[in-house]
Amino acid sequence: MKIAVAGATGRVGRHVVEVLEGQGPEVVPISRAQGVDLVTGQGLAQALAGVDTVVDAASSPSPDRESATAFFTAATRNLQEAGRKAGVKWMVVVSIIGIDRFTGGYPAAKLAHEQAMLAGPIPVRILRAAQFHEFVGQLVDWGRKGDVSDVQPMRTQLVAARTVAEALAALATRPGATGPTIMEIAGPHEEELVDAARRLVARRGEALRVQGVRNADDPDTALYESGALLPGPNATLAGPSFPGLAGQRP
Ligand SMILES: NC(=O)c1ccc[n+]([C@@H]2O[C@H](COP(=O)([O-])OP(=O)(O)OC[C@H]3O[C@@H](n4cnc5c(N)ncnc54)[C@H](OP(=O)(O)O)[C@@H]3O)[C@@H](O)[C@H]2O)c1
Repeated sequence: MKIAVAGATGRVGRHVVEVLEGQGPEVVPISRAQGVDLVTGQGLAQALAGVDTVVDAASSPSPDRESATAFFTAATRNLQEAGRKAGVKWMVVVSIIGIDRFTGGYPAAKLAHEQAMLAGPIPVRILRAAQFHEFVGQLVDWGRKGDVSDVQPMRTQLVAARTVAEALAALATRPGATGPTIMEIAGPHEEELVDAARRLVARRGEALRVQGVRNADDPDTALYESGALLPGPNATLAGPSFPGLAGQRP
């Protein structure tokens, strides 16, 4: 079995590659670092030759709605079209829990991603994940202004990228398995993102103050705070917990 992983150098994609390589299938890593561009399509036909399944774990370099929508729709069109020509039978896509409730920003681009994938000729399974453990540090860095970091208050059930990768690999290696088209995966505990960010900064030993700051320009701000990103009752919940929860080893 030959499985291509788009976004093979990313936070989750690199784990998908590692997990699959440990299980036996031949793995084709896809990213610009490997000379394949999903947006222009350069190198894609060659990369997908003989591939049975594609795991799409790529992401737009920009979180801005317009750029991210342009990225995901172009990448999906190219993956579906080059995949069809190459005889790909199955696609597994990673998305985000709750995005269908959002109207703007990156979540809206992810919804366009899902819709474009589902409209393509190759059958798709979508795994919607909660925010990754590894995403907390990125948000702290994005919000950094001198010795303060502004972080959007958010109810989330942080999940390890490795855990999501294991679930994606399991879906990729069972082509045609029955089950819902859209599934969810999250970590074992609900968290407030600002608290998780403070624990991360404390563990790093950084003199940085993390403060919760609502983005007044974002029409979906209330959704982040009301629990729209939390998993539904049928979600798979899997550890490890985000480090530093009370009673746990750091
Ligand atoms: N981060 C989270 O907390 C989270 C939570 C739930 C779901 N997700 C979803 O998981 C997916 C992956 O997210 P991530 O955070 O792991 O992404 P990431 O770390 O930003 O990695 C993005 C990947 O896409 C590749 N890429 C970017 N532009 C490309 C292009 N034009 N052609 C080919 N490859 C390209 C990058 O490699 P090169 O730069 O080498 O091209 C990299 O391998 C996304 O769909 C995201 O929405 C993320």
